[in-house]
Amino acid sequence: MNRGSNPVSLATTGATDVLEKRSLTDRWRDFRNTLVSDRRFQAAVMRLPVLRSIGERNTRRIFDQCAGFVYSQTLLACVELGVLAVLARDTPTGGELANRLGLRPDAAERLLRAAAALGLVEDRSAGRYGLGPAGAVIAADPGLLAMISHHRILYADLMDPAAMLRGSGHGQQMPAYWAYAGAKRPEGLNADQITSYSALMTASQASLAADVLDAYRFDRHERLMDIGGGDGGFVEAAAQRLPGLQFICFDLPPVAQRATRRFESAGLSGRAVACGGNFLTDPLPDGADIVTLLRVVLDHDDDTVATLLRAVRQALRPQGVLVIAEPISGTPGAERITDTYFGIYLMAMGNGKTRTFKELCALLNAAGFSRTRRIATRNRLLCGLVVARA
Ligand SMILES: C[S@@+](CC[C@H](N)C(=O)[O-])C[C@H]1O[C@@H](n2cnc3c(N)ncnc32)[C@H](O)[C@@H]1O
Repeated sequence: MNRGSNPVSLATTGATDVLEKRSLTDRWRDFRNTLVSDRRFQAAVMRLPVLRSIGERNTRRIFDQCAGFVYSQTLLACVELGVLAVLARDTPTGGELANRLGLRPDAAERLLRAAAALGLVEDRSAGRYGLGPAGAVIAADPGLLAMISHHRILYADLMDPAAMLRGSGHGQQMPAYWAYAGAKRPEGLNADQITSYSALMTASQASLAADVLDAYRFDRHERLMDIGGGDGGFVEAAAQRLPGLQFICFDLPPVAQRATRRFESAGLSGRAVACGGNFLTDPLPDGADIVTLLRVVLDHDDDTVATLLRAVRQALRPQGVLVIAEPISGTPGAERITDTYFGIYLMAMGNGKTRTFKELCALLNAAGFSRTRRIATRNRLLCGLVVARA
C-alpha cells in the first residue's frame, strides 16, 4: 500500500497508528513472509545447494501440516489391524503379515510402505519387516496405544473445525466420551458414562505417575489427597514408593468406586481411601498437607478452576502444598502439544484449555496460594509441575 495515497481514510481507520507502531521485528517478519512466498525466491533457493536443504525442510514441514491426518490414520490402521503388535514379537515377510492380518497382499504392502516412511516399521533382511524406532516406542506404551485408538472420536468431531470455532456446529462424540465436561450434575453420572475415559486415563497414568513422583519430594508430607484422581493409579504408585504417607483419592462416585476396588486388591485399604463426590459442590475431605491435581485443571474453564482452587485451599492444612501436573503452554518446544493438540482437543471436548505458568499463577494467587514455582519433569513437553503453598 502507498502510505501517502489516502491519508484521510488511513487516519480514520487508525491504520497510520498501526504502521507507526510496527516494531523492527514485525517489519522483518513481513519482509520475510513476502520473500518466502515469492515463487522466484523459492526457485532460487532450490538452485543453491546450501539453501536447498532449508527449502526442502520447509516444504516437508508444510506438507506435514497438510497431510497430518493421513499420517495419523496410517498409524491408526497399524494399531487397529495389529501390525505393531505382530511386529513387536516377530519379523514376518509382507506376505506372512498379510495372511496373519487377513489383508490382501497389495493392501498390506501399501500399508507397510506408508508406515515405513513414518518410522513405524522398517525393512529387515531377507524381505522381512520389523518395528521402526517410532513403532517400537508406540508399541511398548499402552497409554499411547489407547490414545491413538480413541482419536477416532476426536477426528470425527473435528470434521468441520471451522463450524466448531464459529460455534455453529459442534461434534457430539467427544462431549459424550468426557461426560463430566458438559454435565450440570457430574456427580450423577453412572458407571457406563465414566468407563471409557477412566480406562484411557488408567492406560496412560503409569508413566505420568513416575514422572511426577520423581520430580517432587513427596516424602516430606504425611497425607496426600489426589483430587480428580481417577481410579487411583497415581495413589497406588505413590503408596508403593512412599510407605510413610496416608492417601485420599477424590473423584466422581462411580470413579471413586473403581479406586476403592483398586486399593482393596493392592492391599492398600489401610492407607488409601477413595471418596466420591463433586469437587465443585461437595466438601472436600480435610487434613491433607499435600493435594495433587493431575491433568485436572486443564479440563475446566477459569471460573470452574477458581472454584476448585478455593475449595482445595480450604481443605488443605495451613502451609499445605498444592501440586498441579499437566501440559503447560509456553514450554519451549511443546507448542504443538500444548497449543495445537490440547488447545483444539479441549475445545472439541467442550471445556477447558491449556494455560501458561503465568496464567496458572494468577488463578492460584486469586485463590489464596503463594510461593508458586515451576518444576520440570523428565517429560517436560507433556507434563510440567506447578507447586504452590496455601
Ligand atoms: C482427565 S481425568 C484425570 C484423571 C487422573 N488425575 C489422571 O491423571 O489420570 C479428570 C478426572 O477428574 C474427574 N472429575 C471431573 N470433574 C469432576 C468433579 N466435578 N468432581 C470430581 N471429579 C471430577 C474425572 O472423573 C476424571 O477422573
